[in-house]
Formats: sequence, structure tokens, C-alpha cells
Amino acid sequence: MATWGGLINRYGLRMDISHSVEPVTLFEGNTPLIPAPRLGAKIVPGGHLYLKYEGLNPTGSFKDRGMTTAMTQAVADGAKTVICASTGNTAASAAAYAARAGLKCVVLVPDGKIALGKLAGAIAYGANVITVTGSFDDGLRMVREASERAPIALVNSVNPARLQGQKTAAWEVTEQLGKVPDWLCLPVGNAGNITAYWLGFCEDGEIRPRLLGAQAAGSAPIVLGKRVDNPDTRATAIRIGNPARWAEANTALKESNGTILAVTDHEIFDAYHMLAEIEGVFCEPSSATGVAGLYKSVQSGTVETEGKTFVCVLTGHGLKDPDSAVMKAPEMVTVPPDTDSLLKALDLATGANI
Ligand code: F0G
Repeated sequence: MATWGGLINRYGLRMDISHSVEPVTLFEGNTPLIPAPRLGAKIVPGGHLYLKYEGLNPTGSFKDRGMTTAMTQAVADGAKTVICASTGNTAASAAAYAARAGLKCVVLVPDGKIALGKLAGAIAYGANVITVTGSFDDGLRMVREASERAPIALVNSVNPARLQGQKTAAWEVTEQLGKVPDWLCLPVGNAGNITAYWLGFCEDGEIRPRLLGAQAAGSAPIVLGKRVDNPDTRATAIRIGNPARWAEANTALKESNGTILAVTDHEIFDAYHMLAEIEGVFCEPSSATGVAGLYKSVQSGTVETEGKTFVCVLTGHGLKDPDSAVMKAPEMVTVPPDTDSLLKALDLATGANI
């Protein structure tokens, strides 16, 4: 039986990276495309909604797609240490793939603005974690300069090898769906992912989806058309004010006849809860931003749904950000250890008279 061997094994011939060394892989990719009929009936009436659940990658986010290629290239180039700035997921992914490759890894994360599961990952995989009293954008500027001045390989998505891995998600979507969707919806932060999807679709053929990008309202530089100096949102993964691949994102949006919009934190968390409670798919808040953007665009009449197929990319797993999930904890009921109390609580919880 052929087993899944990771993205370079599967798509290496279509990747512009060095093939001189063994791939650094954790068997990333091949994530499920899950139909979401109940949520779809609510947010895209008459259409078909699918969720590309990228949280099921080895470190819990889509970043692993680009990290297999970036780390393989770093090894081929003879790097001994890799570095990245990150809102969390890139850090965890870089740390894991560096461990796998036997390289040292340094990650810069915004002080106090990184979800617990991501920090836990970076620490567990043995990275040197440095926190910056500034934003992701400050961190990215610092690691770019540091990698020019010291022999350290930069593995942020400004590194073209990252896109070579990330573009494979577009091919998987088309293979799994059996066609190109009408719309592909995703959150936009540093804009590496939207750039990579567009690259993948363009390399795959003439039929391409329209792209729907969504940014958090407090961190929406592309929507506003200007840099945001103090980005703010509870969706910390996309708390970015000056995306590195801004120009490429605009090109992708224009060429795909797409759209980009801002959604409030309230709208993001609404989508986050709907995904988990209506479909049983638990993603991190930032990942729900594409769904929130789609819902808002349908409601405002920008996007027609009848007969159309929508794929929303859920970029990271819900367990990455446990604090956001347990914010609903006040709804929990505590009972003493006797069954009468439990039955009373069940009446309250279910509305039934048990
Ligand atoms: N969703 C999640 C869960 C992310 O972690 C990120 C980016 C994005 C969406 C946005 O993707 O930057 O390619 O537009 N996270 C980066 C990080 C910045 O450091 O983990 P993008």
C-alpha cells in the first residue's frame, strides 16, 4: 500500500527548489476538504461550502507546507541555523522542521501576543524563543536585517522556497473537489498564503477561482491601502500591519477578479463558534476570518451564492489558541458529586424535564 510521503515526495517535480538533499518532511499536506452543508445553508444559500482543514498538518497549521520546502532548501544551502519572525504558527513549524533537520532555530514573537499552543510548540520543539516588545512587523524587519548580517537562513514567507510548498494547497483543493472552486476564501496577514494559492492555481491551468481575502478590522492594511502602525485584533495570527507580500496579494486579487474586506473581531468570533458548533470543525480564530469575510460579502450582496462552490481555508487548529476557546467557560455548570444534582443540571442544560 502506498503511504503518504509528504509534499516534496508527492509534488517535488513541480517545485522550484534544490533536489540535492533528502527532503525534510513530517509528512505534511494531504489535509481533508470537508463538506460543510449545514453551515453552507446558513452562509451561502443555494451554494456548496467546503472547508480545507489545514489545522490537521503535523504542527497544526498550513505553515508546514512551506516549511518542508524552506527547510530542505536551507539544508541544501548548508545552513546551520534558521530564523523567523512569527505571530506563532511559523515559529512552531520552523522549530519542528529545524529539529527534524538537525538545525538550530531562533524565533522572534511579539511579547504577550502569541497564542499559548503556538508558544508551547516552539518551546517543545527546542527553538530559541525571543520575544519582541513590538509587533510582528518589527520582528520581520529585525530578522531580515539579521539574516543579511549573520550566516542564518531566513524561513519567513519572503523566502521563495516557502511559496513552493504552500502552493500545493491549491492543487489539493482542485484534486479533492474534482474541479476548481468558484471562490477560495482565506485570511490574509503577511499575505504569503494568498500569494502561494494564486501561484498554485496559475500553474495548474487556465480555470482559476476568484479569491476572497479577509483581514481583521484592526489590522487591515491591504483593505485600507495603507500601513497600520499599531495593528490590533484578538485574532493574533493575523495581527500584521505591513504585509511582506502586499504587492503580490494585490496582483492575485486583481487577476482573479477577487475581493478583500475587513471583518470585526466580533464577526471573526461568530464564524469561529459557528464552525465548531454547527460543523464540528475547530479552528483558531484567525482561521475563521475567511468564513467571516465570505458571510459578510454574501450578506452585503458582493458575492452571489446560487449554484456556486466555495472553499474556505481553515489555516490553523483550534487547540493552538485554547484561551480563546475557554472564554465561553462561564457557561459551564459545576455540580457536587451526586446524581440528583446532575439531573437538575441536565434539566437546565437541555431544557428537558428529565
Ligand atoms: N492564519 C493563520 C492561522 C496564520 O498563522 C497566519 C499567519 C495566517 C492565517 C495568515 O497567513 O501571513 O500568509 O497571510 N501567520 C504567520 C505566522 C504570520 O507567523 O505564523 P499569511
